[in-house]
Amino acid sequence: MNRNSGDGAPGAHRFPPGFLWGASTSAYQIEGAVHEDGRGQSIWDTFSHTPGKVHGGDTGDIACDSYHRYEDDFGLLGALGVGGYRFSIAWSRVLPSGDGEVNQRGLDHYRRLIAGLRERDIAPVATVYHWELPQALEDRGGWANRDTACRFAEYAELLARELGDQVAMWITLNEPQQAADQGYRIGTHAPGKTDMALAAAATHHLLLAHGLATAAMRAVLPSGAQIGISLDLHPIRAGTDASAHAAEVADAEQNRIFLEPVLHGSYPGLARAELLPPSALIEPGDMTLISAPVDFLGLNYYSPHYVRLGDWEDLRRGETPLADHPGVVTYLPDGLPHTIMGWIVEPDGLYDVLRALDREAPGLPLYITENGCAADDYVDPEGRVNDFERVDYLEGHLDAAWHAIEDGVNLAGYFPWSLMDNFEWARGYQCRFGLYYVDFGTQRRLPKKSAAFYAEVARSNSLPSLDKGDGGVDRLDAAAAGGDRAAYAALATDGCESSSSSPRSSAARKASTTTGSN
Ligand code: FCB
Repeated sequence: MNRNSGDGAPGAHRFPPGFLWGASTSAYQIEGAVHEDGRGQSIWDTFSHTPGKVHGGDTGDIACDSYHRYEDDFGLLGALGVGGYRFSIAWSRVLPSGDGEVNQRGLDHYRRLIAGLRERDIAPVATVYHWELPQALEDRGGWANRDTACRFAEYAELLARELGDQVAMWITLNEPQQAADQGYRIGTHAPGKTDMALAAAATHHLLLAHGLATAAMRAVLPSGAQIGISLDLHPIRAGTDASAHAAEVADAEQNRIFLEPVLHGSYPGLARAELLPPSALIEPGDMTLISAPVDFLGLNYYSPHYVRLGDWEDLRRGETPLADHPGVVTYLPDGLPHTIMGWIVEPDGLYDVLRALDREAPGLPLYITENGCAADDYVDPEGRVNDFERVDYLEGHLDAAWHAIEDGVNLAGYFPWSLMDNFEWARGYQCRFGLYYVDFGTQRRLPKKSAAFYAEVARSNSLPSLDKGDGGVDRLDAAAAGGDRAAYAALATDGCESSSSSPRSSAARKASTTTGSN
């Protein structure tokens, strides 16, 4: 599965042998081809085509065109030297109406994708649900309807039967907290509802979907199949003693509301009642299904949240009201960097979450299934993308991950978000997270400096010292800047030569008016 040699330069942080280095994407964010080969409509098609919902009116209609270009994208993975690829399967390609008739052409696409990965010795890591509910199911109540969880289990079982023995790891759901919260409570994501009761119902039904799907998949998958879930977790830091309680409540409502049911079969008592599913929705046996043992836990980590007491009528710079918590704000602490999306950069947060998970589920294999940052990337006149911020971000977080392993955490792999720039949900194409720069006008892919950095990590299974004196940054500089053309060129694949950063013709770029974590 791994290409890494397990060696690494002297003084570097070595990762354990067999550590799985990968890269992450999701279907709606990269595939495009939304009307092709019988694909049905999803809630993100509807949402992105609704005026005012996505920055600049961007949609995933074309995205990175990976539905057609996936073979080229294998080249990007190969150039990075990764041993795993996390992608997602679009439900509405396989079952255009969410249930009923199977669309063979959709299924065949993923069969080809998976086969191509395996031929290249790259472990396929498939996410069953990365936020694209078939619109037909939303029309029947979406995740607020218990029936959707049953339809999801049928869909997952179909995938397990058809593709199961070829997939190395299955991730039932990606960040169900965002699907419930942004999708049904604050409305910044599809389907754009703003109703506490719907969100509470969606929370339970997403968890139930995970539980039912896990059971259904286990029944048909070969023994030893790996099934897990990816949760977005962020430490909530209290700025002052006075805000300690608010921080604990926020932690219950944002992190533990999904973590606790999966690990322990209960909802966190500290969360406010209106966010928790009412007991009438929880049927006997639900919590047992939801907490059936997983083979691994996927962690999506980007940033911590800082909270303190604050005046909503008189906000200070960097403060944002913490929704539904009057008198409490989130804020950007002085001295801590943040990304262009306002996400605080704090690698210690990753270390803390990993340690906390290890305490809570001792020995459970953990995978970082997402980690990365958006930056104002651009192609310079020499055709390079010198994304120093991203190299720093990755370096800091890999250092934190390495320390967590040193301190006994069973961390088994790392999948940065993202392999390439893509459709960043409500932010559209303005937020670039990729290791590869995508020129959306021509669909050319261009390795950024971070791709050179990450390839070195994945290939050596170690984090090089980036100390200037050691030649680390200089060496990367030289490679990325073309001083070592061979090293840099090795990252580019056919058709991926340098390109300008011209915007897609169809999508005008306007100021962002959207909020939310994506
Ligand atoms: C996560 C999503 C992923 C991507 C990153 C930036 O919440 O799972 O699709 O958008 O954020």
